[in-house]
Amino acid sequence: MAFSDAFLEELSARADIVDLVSRHVELKKQGGRLVGLCPFHSEKTPSFSVSPDKQLFYCFGCGAGGGAIQFAMRMENLPFADAVRALADRAGLTIPEEASDREAMERRETLYRLNREAARFFHQNLKGPGGAKARDYLQKRNLSPAAVTHFGLGFAPDDWDGLLKAMTAAGFAKADLLSAGLVVAGKTGSLYDRFRGRLIFPIIDLRKRVVGFGGRVLDDSLPKYLNSPDTPVFSKSQNLFALFLAKNTKQGRLILAEGYMDVVSLHQAGFDCAVASLGTALTPQQAMLMAKYTREVVISYDMDAAGQKAAARAIGILEQAGVSIRVLRMKGAKDPDEYIGRFGREAFAALLTGAETQTEYRLSALAGQHDLTADEGRLNFCREAALMLAAIPSNAERDIFTVRAAELSRVAPDALKSDVRRARARLGKQAGRDAARKAARPEQALQPADRALRYENTHSASAEEGLLQMVFADPALLTEAAELVCPEDFSAPLLGKLFAFALAHPDDPGLAFAAGAFAPEELSHLARLIHKPSDVAAGPQAVRDCAGIIRDESGLRRAVAEGADPLLIYRQSRRESIQ
Ligand code: GTP
Ligand code: MN
Repeated sequence: MAFSDAFLEELSARADIVDLVSRHVELKKQGGRLVGLCPFHSEKTPSFSVSPDKQLFYCFGCGAGGGAIQFAMRMENLPFADAVRALADRAGLTIPEEASDREAMERRETLYRLNREAARFFHQNLKGPGGAKARDYLQKRNLSPAAVTHFGLGFAPDDWDGLLKAMTAAGFAKADLLSAGLVVAGKTGSLYDRFRGRLIFPIIDLRKRVVGFGGRVLDDSLPKYLNSPDTPVFSKSQNLFALFLAKNTKQGRLILAEGYMDVVSLHQAGFDCAVASLGTALTPQQAMLMAKYTREVVISYDMDAAGQKAAARAIGILEQAGVSIRVLRMKGAKDPDEYIGRFGREAFAALLTGAETQTEYRLSALAGQHDLTADEGRLNFCREAALMLAAIPSNAERDIFTVRAAELSRVAPDALKSDVRRARARLGKQAGRDAARKAARPEQALQPADRALRYENTHSASAEEGLLQMVFADPALLTEAAELVCPEDFSAPLLGKLFAFALAHPDDPGLAFAAGAFAPEELSHLARLIHKPSDVAAGPQAVRDCAGIIRDESGLRRAVAEGADPLLIYRQSRRESIQ
């Protein structure tokens, strides 16, 4: 997606970041900036800051940062091009679309229309004479007609080309059916329906568009479920089943289940906050998406080994997204659907209020891994539990669960408490050592959070950062800098790229935060850098100093690459600068 520089320049001038952020965050003035609670992770004290003159935001807590476009991307979960469109829309700017962009957009619109028609076709088919078998099945599974309508469930005819015929008759091209993943090409090139004889769950995005489908067999044949492949309008890793409904819940949490059936039957039982990932392990994008709508996620995965393993993984991913997590354990049923069918909604509601906190869950999971009837099992359990408990920051919580662990393993609480204290002291020492090591280092460049972007030469990188900070604060200094160094002199490719960008846009280097030239993780780091209050007195002399270091270092690198002795070169350059 290529927008012209001129357009992006206009957009970044018009889309005021303060105005944009204020819609989502209450901002207070603090010095030259505005601060507030970060909308991207949960926090109680503000570490989110917006700088109106630089048109940047940066969160010191979670590292999110960028310009207006990145803010819109993250806040509304939009890809770059869509964020640009949304901002342009609000600013009343029309996008000079390139022909190819418009074509791609029109193709996507066609796929949305096609998916909607297909969903309608499946739904009608379920209600019509061809759907008798499926209706029987639904009845057997206790799904009401109301739930069927609410989720727009359907049934794919048990033919090779039921949908294919209906959609081509409705005027859709075969190529569109292929690209929507609704039909599959056989070896001979002939097309046939992907979903045949299956109960259909339409997957609907947050803008209420049908983006894909899941289909379940009515019997025991395999595969049990079939999903749409990723298409130009559907990405499994970025959607959650039923989030478009669950985001409006008043229940103050989201329930994360494993399957379509679980979600439908939870909603039917009144738990309108249930969602599921789409037949794959939970992804970080899905976790971030949930975090946008709730502060608490209750994981309610299947009770079998695979489900519990998936739950452990989901905890880690949800933790990263900053939501609080509880885990629901069911006895006497393997999944929420079965549990509600067997014990009723009240029983599930009781489970929900009593759902274990993450610590309880981890502790009982740990207990499950050891044979607590044998001394050796008890000993190993205590050893591992002490390590786990030691890491709990809250004294009260640590105490409560230490006692619980002692009960589980039938050891004296005081004995376990002293083990935990010892483990904690060791942890503390380690943390102290890490801090000391950090403090002993001289003021250095900000290392990017993203490992792939780490600086190799921090000496040069800090000069490069200093130089960039100055030219971003005062573009007039760019002329001076341009005479002294070029982007290839920069040791950090990312910083060199930013410098090249500034040179190409001397009137508005800040445009970098509007153009699509940088990846989000790059922009986060650059935003932090440009946002950092500079303690050096900026000016032509400071630019010359930084440029000098950058050039020396790059000369050194070049010479070494050509086989010279680095020490010799280094001494020589020192002598020159002394003379
Ligand atoms: P029921 O058996 O009808 O109660 O459905 P379930 O949702 O309980 O199914 P299960 O626990 O077996 O699987 C959970 C989820 O994993 C499903 O909803 C699907 O999204 C996915 N899944 C299960 N089996 C398959 C399969 O064979 N292929 C694919 N792609 N996904 C599957
Ligand atoms: Mn099930």
